Amino acid sequence: MNILLNRYYLKSKKVYIETYGCQMNFSDSEIVASVLKDEGYVFSGDIKDADVILVNTCSIRDNAEKRVRNRIQEFKALKKKKNSLIIGILGCMAERLKMQLLEEEKFVDLIAGPDSYRDLPLLLQDVESGQKGVNVLLSHEETYSDLSPVRIDSNGITAFISIMRGCQNFCSYCVVPFTRGKERSRDAHSIIGEAEKLFNEGFREITLLGQNVNSYLWEGMNFAGLMKKIAEINPLLRIRFATSHPKDMSDELLDIIASYPNICNYIHLPAQSGSSRILKLMNRKYDRQWYLSRIDAIKSKIPDCGISTDIISGFCSETEEDHKETLSLMAYAAYDFAFMFKYSERPDTTAAKKFKDDVPEDIKLKRLNEVIELQKELSLNSNRKDIGKVFEVLVEGLSKRSKDYVSGRNSQNKMVIFPQIGFKPGDYVKVKITDCTSASLKGKAI
Ligand code: SAH
Ligand code: SF4
Ligand code: F3S
Repeated sequence: MNILLNRYYLKSKKVYIETYGCQMNFSDSEIVASVLKDEGYVFSGDIKDADVILVNTCSIRDNAEKRVRNRIQEFKALKKKKNSLIIGILGCMAERLKMQLLEEEKFVDLIAGPDSYRDLPLLLQDVESGQKGVNVLLSHEETYSDLSPVRIDSNGITAFISIMRGCQNFCSYCVVPFTRGKERSRDAHSIIGEAEKLFNEGFREITLLGQNVNSYLWEGMNFAGLMKKIAEINPLLRIRFATSHPKDMSDELLDIIASYPNICNYIHLPAQSGSSRILKLMNRKYDRQWYLSRIDAIKSKIPDCGISTDIISGFCSETEEDHKETLSLMAYAAYDFAFMFKYSERPDTTAAKKFKDDVPEDIKLKRLNEVIELQKELSLNSNRKDIGKVFEVLVEGLSKRSKDYVSGRNSQNKMVIFPQIGFKPGDYVKVKITDCTSASLKGKAI
């Protein structure tokens, strides 16, 4: 009886979720929403209205953590006005800092790591009964495969599907293996089922997510095999994936991408550095030569493939020479897009334990700026080459700048903006490109 009453009471609770970090975290927030919805919680887009505030956090760089630390001070102020407000920290920061986070931020009621979201209803009950709710256990099996993610911030057209969790590559700079635990692949049937369901609900593009999707393996099915199955669901369902690790980028996968028109011609292949010496220190398990050979393979098998990268500037012991090698690798790959970062030392990683964070801050910044400037040029060059070409664009919605225009992406993942003449989200439109900036293409439907 007590339990029932308690549940009923919980049912009226409004939850507000804020998410930081990578696509995996956004996908996880949809799992969290699913777990809580099943327990009768409702979701509120208005933080002032919430009974429970959950923040799904990222630890990848120091400034990601600082941002969350600042933001939660605002929640503290809200809690002063409303004593019953529950504040929970989820995700990678919860996992990395564990009890330390509760000690440092006394107003936080709950911490839950990425593998403990099924436990959230019980953790919230712990908080209701006056205790702190804590679960930061990592699992070797959890993939949440049986849960139906609740698409909280969805445009109804594009969606993420998480196909694996964790990472055990232990790149020497990276905190993810510590915050997300062992790599594990999700049951292929449940992935295919989720993709079919999304398609039937009107979604037209799915992105398969994992820290290293190329190493997907479930009961003998590898990533290329999984892609093939999903591509065969319906030719109108577009497929993307992220992230590919260059060490596992196989010709088999490139051939599958090339042979299915609905698998997008776009590969995010993070290089991190162009110097073999630095790549070795980073424990990336490939060198410059191997990376360039993968770029060559992509360009020969999928000539119009969009390629993007992640770059870290100022890693331990990086010289001007190493940095120049990064610039020349970027120019060779002629990336369409890049995520570029300054190296940020993370506690407990190999780099923090074994190497010195010895590139001065001003040099890190100077190199990062050079990387950013070069990428701007490369993006602009690449976009200029598209002028005059015709692309099939999946309409996502009205352009942010003007409701006279719609926007969507081409297969290469470039944002295309063109005049609205009655298009609906989910329409495939052939668009001829007439103009561009370094960030997007402009065109006209034909
Ligand atoms: N699994 C993906 C990336 C996950 S993290 C992969 O292997 O490519 C996203 C990006 O953050 C990384 O590619 C890297 O460029 C950057 N990053 C990770 N740790 C970092 C650190 N300590 N300092 C700066 N950038 C970092
Ligand atoms: Fe981090 Fe490397 Fe794993 Fe990517 S592959 S999440 S960079 S350890
Ligand atoms: Fe950040 Fe965790 Fe993703 S550290 S980048 S949210 S896996």
